[in-house]
Amino acid sequence: MAKEFRRYLVTSALPYANGPVHIGHLAGVYIPSDIYTRYLRLKGCDVISVCGSDEHGVPITIKARREGVTPQEIVDRYHELIKRSFERLGMSFDIYSRTSSPTHAVTASEFFRKLYDEGKFIERTSMQFYDEEAQTFLADRYITGTCPRCGNDRAYGDQCEKCGSTLSPDELVDPRSAVSGAVPVKRETRHWYLPLDRYEEFLREWILDGHKEWRANVYGQCKSWLDGGLQPRAVSRDLDWGIPVPVEGAEGKVLYVWFDAPIGYISATKDLTPDWEKYWKSGDTKMVHFIGKDNIVFHCIVFPAMLKAHGGYILPENVPANEFLNLEGEKISTSRNWAVWLHEYLDEFPGKEDVLRYVLCASAPEAKDNDFTWKDFQARNNNELVAVLGNFV
Ligand code: MF3
Ligand code: ZN
Repeated sequence: MAKEFRRYLVTSALPYANGPVHIGHLAGVYIPSDIYTRYLRLKGCDVISVCGSDEHGVPITIKARREGVTPQEIVDRYHELIKRSFERLGMSFDIYSRTSSPTHAVTASEFFRKLYDEGKFIERTSMQFYDEEAQTFLADRYITGTCPRCGNDRAYGDQCEKCGSTLSPDELVDPRSAVSGAVPVKRETRHWYLPLDRYEEFLREWILDGHKEWRANVYGQCKSWLDGGLQPRAVSRDLDWGIPVPVEGAEGKVLYVWFDAPIGYISATKDLTPDWEKYWKSGDTKMVHFIGKDNIVFHCIVFPAMLKAHGGYILPENVPANEFLNLEGEKISTSRNWAVWLHEYLDEFPGKEDVLRYVLCASAPEAKDNDFTWKDFQARNNNELVAVLGNFV
């Protein structure tokens, strides 16, 4: 086979270090990215594949609070578990990093600071939910309530997991604090916002005109966001877990997790090779982001706007996002413990890593949500791998 000297940077969504990895993550993101990376390597391309744990954000601090441990203990536990399970499965990442690393703190702070210094943010004061009992602002998932769209009474301040709507805390009916259960009050607070509206035209041209080949689910979501009109998005939060906002007078404020996490792809590349700029700043590198469908807006709209605002970085060539995998007809859920956990599978089926890879690949939720059942797993193993492939070999 003729060698193709093309350079690729493959990224896989950084899993939250608040729980183990399950088959939904594997089928949607990690198996596809691994297949693609191996394919490019076989073709002789210069390819690196980066991933790591996403260690900030509210779900981690909520879990820590519930267990009476520090957020650091939570992320240490799950980072090790996830990293180890990926190795045992045979994932071929060149690096599996983490966003609590020193490199990442510096990279994300400098990124923010450059945008700040160049006046690319706007500052706004607004009224946000505050828990007087716990004396804390209630960002994102710290606020729960009833979804205005579907009536789910366990919707979060940023999203309803039942109907998939993106929400803002003010939209919730009967808001409550997830910390104390108290009815929150409103308090004034100051934050930095990335004015996405200023990037709307650039994004329209780049995606809607320039990337018609993107998958229909990805293109469609981008189009509906862009047609709805983009709003400035807050990139800081009142929290004590995260990367401190590197600005004087910003005590008690950290970078919003969706601001720092994608920068984690850059930090991971820096930790991998001193030649990292070759991958991030050279026009002949193709960057491909593998993600789940709930990550589309962040990878196609917000992160590209950040990269554009910063300047000097390439933008993704493609963002293959998969739909979700259900388990025995029901939505996989970490909080309800309804999942097949990778580390448990590896313990229970030693030597059968490839069977899982095969089944998840054969039933990957590419164009629509798909269902994983143990009956199907068994049938594919017995009929397809053992009978058809085994006999053929
Ligand atoms: N942790 C996020 C999730 O599991 C994905 C983060 S991807 C990154 O949905 F780009 F932000 F790193
Ligand atoms: Zn809903």
